[in-house]
Amino acid sequence: MRQAIQNLEASKIREVANAGIGRSDVLAFWFGESDEVTPDFIRQAAIDSLTRGETFYAHNLGLPELREAVAAYTSRLHPPVDAGRIAITSGGVNALMLAVQALVDAGDEVVAVTPVWPNLTAQPAILGAKVHCVSLKPVDGEWVLDMDALRAAITSRTKLLIVNAPNNPTGWTMTRAEQQALLDHCRATGTWILADEVYERLFYEASDNGCAPSFLDIAAPEDRVVVAHSFSKSFLMTGWRLGWLVLPPALMDGMGKLIEFNTSCASVFTQRAGIVALERTDEVTPRVVAHLKTCRDTLVPLLGALPQVRVQPARGGMYAFFQVEGATDSLDTAKRLVAEAGLGLAPGNAFAPEAQGWLRWCFASKDPQRLVQGVDRLKTWLAAQ
Ligand SMILES: Cc1ncc(COP(=O)(O)O)c(C=O)c1O
Repeated sequence: MRQAIQNLEASKIREVANAGIGRSDVLAFWFGESDEVTPDFIRQAAIDSLTRGETFYAHNLGLPELREAVAAYTSRLHPPVDAGRIAITSGGVNALMLAVQALVDAGDEVVAVTPVWPNLTAQPAILGAKVHCVSLKPVDGEWVLDMDALRAAITSRTKLLIVNAPNNPTGWTMTRAEQQALLDHCRATGTWILADEVYERLFYEASDNGCAPSFLDIAAPEDRVVVAHSFSKSFLMTGWRLGWLVLPPALMDGMGKLIEFNTSCASVFTQRAGIVALERTDEVTPRVVAHLKTCRDTLVPLLGALPQVRVQPARGGMYAFFQVEGATDSLDTAKRLVAEAGLGLAPGNAFAPEAQGWLRWCFASKDPQRLVQGVDRLKTWLAAQ
């Protein structure tokens, strides 16, 4: 086994979840997914595809109809994007891995903004890259970007910048001015940007297009910018494993080859479901986002009312990221919460060492009452400490 793989840290979120497996009394908010099933008309599209016998390989870059649908969807939200720049992938995580495989050699320098979902720093490490993390800074319970520190970290030796906004786990969302400053800087250093924008629609502030600021709004097609997306969050399709990349035209031929040697293609019936999801997005996503906002606005004030908790409402994403007084070891606290309170949260240090002492609560709950019950459990547990 390669040393880079042996060095990978096992998931601390899994470690907590494993402690609660088989316990039906645990209220679980540890993973980043809704407990609501995919809308039936999306599921029906997959059933119809299978009934038609669509059980064969497809084009490496995806069904032309789906690439067109993604381009039309993207062009509704952002400046026009040609279908020729879209690659369909087997989930967002696969989209990100393909982008890293396409851009990073062993020994290359990669900069990542943290805390962040651990896959984003593990992927370049798997390829043997040197990952330098630049931390967001917590200010009054909210994580903010230190732009000077980030610019100083990105030099002409930096092959790739990886940035996820809206951010899992902090809810940090980049401003347009921050994006422009980073794009200008990376143009000057010749650094690629991999923007993980899977939460772009899960944005709770006013905006022209209902999205968080995107690099697609400001980058030219030929810029060294790759944007990763997923059907998982905005369409309640986590288990389907479907996502996409928006790439500069010059990368498309290589990306087709890379997909051939990774997964060959996304399954056709899944892609058929994706087409319907995009065509009928207005029947899904606005409702999902409105519900998530209700969930956030149910959970965060209740958490904030606990004297031991410090929390700010996330601007985007689907997580409350918060500190509990005296809980200096996140993993230990999360395990104890499962064992002693029947409450399943993710430990902050799963996302970066600087998030030690924080906890992540996924508020994507079909029934917001579960969130209320969860806070009750936390309150009772805290009172007993
Ligand atoms: C920041 C971020 N990017 C990408 C993904 C990938 O999602 P999927 O592989 O389900 O499309 C996730 C999933 O939790 C995520 O949190």
